Amino acid sequence: MENFQYYTPTKVIFGKGSEKQVGKLVRQQGCGKVLVHYGSGSVVRCGLLNRICASLDREEIPYTTLGGVVPNPRLSLVYQGIDLCRREKIDFILAVGGGSVIDSAKAIGYGVKYDGDVWDFYSGKQQAEDSIPVGVVLTISAAGSEMSDSSVITNEDGWLKRGYSSDLGRARFAVMNPELTMTLPKYQTASGCVDIMMHTMERYFNRSENMELTDGISEHLLRTVMKNAKILMKEPDNYNARAEVMWAGSLSHNGLTGCGTGGGDWACHQLEHELGGMFDVAHGAGLAAVWGSWARYVLPEGAARFAQFAVNVMGVDPKESDEATGLKGIEAMEMFYRTLEMPVKISDMGILLTEEQMNELADKCSHFRKRTVGCVKRLTRDDVYQIYRNAR
Ligand code: NZQ
Ligand code: ZN
Repeated sequence: MENFQYYTPTKVIFGKGSEKQVGKLVRQQGCGKVLVHYGSGSVVRCGLLNRICASLDREEIPYTTLGGVVPNPRLSLVYQGIDLCRREKIDFILAVGGGSVIDSAKAIGYGVKYDGDVWDFYSGKQQAEDSIPVGVVLTISAAGSEMSDSSVITNEDGWLKRGYSSDLGRARFAVMNPELTMTLPKYQTASGCVDIMMHTMERYFNRSENMELTDGISEHLLRTVMKNAKILMKEPDNYNARAEVMWAGSLSHNGLTGCGTGGGDWACHQLEHELGGMFDVAHGAGLAAVWGSWARYVLPEGAARFAQFAVNVMGVDPKESDEATGLKGIEAMEMFYRTLEMPVKISDMGILLTEEQMNELADKCSHFRKRTVGCVKRLTRDDVYQIYRNAR
């Protein structure tokens, strides 16, 4: 087991009706004025935004609102949020929505406390030293941003999607009512389940050894999400299935399943981020579309791990070699994606990549040959190109 740090300061308020406590939770933060940040309308249509505002009113907490966050949240709205917060002297941001809203809130938080361009953090030029704190009311189980240290923003200038991680970005609290996710379109539920699983799979596929407890937690988490995702495809209002998936979403990305793994692989996330930036695909769907291609490409380097995954997660009977068992596991996972109506190829998302686009994706993903991605196999720009090509 590798050395690790585990830090999850976010207070979780989980269950039916938990959003009623939001005013009191914000009050406990001792802030002066709040920005209520939200997306493109789902929280307005279901009445959640009104309920949140009423809860703040009851506590006599001043606030202003900024909606309009889109999936693959844009830098331009982050700039608007920073200006608004400075003008209105906002000192707490309440994100009401999913990963995109939370990530936009985190970025605004960093930007308000920084004299330069907030993109400096996402482009790797600077580290944040301060930020406005963020609280969350979660409406979709997926990104895990409610407990993670990361935030992912898309810069329209060049359509670059880049992440930034800092403990300053960890939410002070996360209100999680699984009932709020029942209005999600099936596609978003499925895409969210893929992302949740991938946050653990990215950590699970690594080059470390002796992680009995972490492996056990990871494997059980993956089986739990698979089981409940299938239930949700037929019964979107099943509370227990929503609850299992929601809690898995947070535990999958708060660091728990990475304890002792040495960090994990994360190549699929890097591959997807370029697809999200260029083609605006749903993040989980993009991950499903590239995973099989990545897995087959790196299988020979991590055959024992893939075999363990196949047997313990996918229920495959061991074959004559680890590689053969691993391959069966990859095929079984693709079959599972298909049952969720998720893509297993990039073309399944209606994107027919040209040669030029595959080269652009590979250039961007390798930061123009300046970095490798992944750890099961360190992928160069040309490896990345081949994975996109095999996934197209
Ligand atoms: O904008 P609204 O109208 O709210 O609609 C959203 C959006 O269209 C809708 N939605 C959310 N809750 C709903 C709902 N519709 C009906 N009922 C509800 N209860 O769902 C759509 C997707 O929302 P989004 O916030 O984009 O989803 P998700 O949570 O999957 O976030 C995706 C973003 O998070 C990033 C992704 O790259 C992507 O940009 N990630 C962030 C991470 C992090 N910060 O730790 C880690 C992840 O790996 C990921 O990269
Ligand atoms: Zn993800």
